[in-house]
Amino acid sequence: MAQGSVRRLVIRGGAVSFDSQGDGAAVLFVHGFPLDRTMWRAQVADLAGWGRVAPDLRGFGLSDPPPGPWTIADHADDLAALLDELRIERAVVCGLSMGGYVVLELLRRHGGRIRGLVLANTRAEADSPEARRARDGTIEAVRARGSVALAESMLPKLLAPSTVATRPEVVGHVRSMIAGTRPEGATAALAAMRDRADAGERLGTIRVPVLVVVGAEDALIPPAIQIELARRIPGARLEVVPGAGHLTPLEQPEEFNRLLTDFLESMR
Ligand code: MLT
Repeated sequence: MAQGSVRRLVIRGGAVSFDSQGDGAAVLFVHGFPLDRTMWRAQVADLAGWGRVAPDLRGFGLSDPPPGPWTIADHADDLAALLDELRIERAVVCGLSMGGYVVLELLRRHGGRIRGLVLANTRAEADSPEARRARDGTIEAVRARGSVALAESMLPKLLAPSTVATRPEVVGHVRSMIAGTRPEGATAALAAMRDRADAGERLGTIRVPVLVVVGAEDALIPPAIQIELARRIPGARLEVVPGAGHLTPLEQPEEFNRLLTDFLESMR
């Protein structure tokens, strides 16, 4: 696998950018909303002994937004096609929040490609009617005011208060990922999340090893919901990380990497 800098491939008709580093069994990292592949910087840099791949999902970061609407299933199919291009038959797949929605859909559509799952700061249920209405409001706000509307509504909820107080570089990184999210990518992904299928019923049928990582101070997806997610997956490991909000891998990278490494080593 190539080392280091960002690579670009045409996948299902659109240019997709991704970081890749290291050799060995593959770990695929799937970012949350409204972020990009760089949220996994500490994991891509540090997970020696594994082939790390972190793409920008379509419409985010440096990946093109194709014209027209898309679905969470499109994101999942893009990832399967990326694995094809990279000649990776099976990977451990690690998704945060929206990335978790994508990973659960990847499992449903392309389950044979997944060796293990890491679900960070995410949930399995579809949007409630109230959440769907809120998505429509956010779509309108982004259409009217661009990504600044996202920064205003989401920044205060993404990070734990202790991260905001003591980690200005993390706050700056999150702010710049949000600012770099193109409005057409954000609105398409908001609609895709609004319309996503419920994955709750399938949790009991998961047969690959699973690690669920919860931010103890997650203000966007309540920890109780994430703990229940782990409880419904047979044999899942559950880890609750103190001092982390919704972005555990960025807020507590050392602890996240320690948990991830333990989990990965258990699958050698
Ligand atoms: C995310 O962090 O990916 C989003 O907040 C998920 C969502 O809005 O449901």
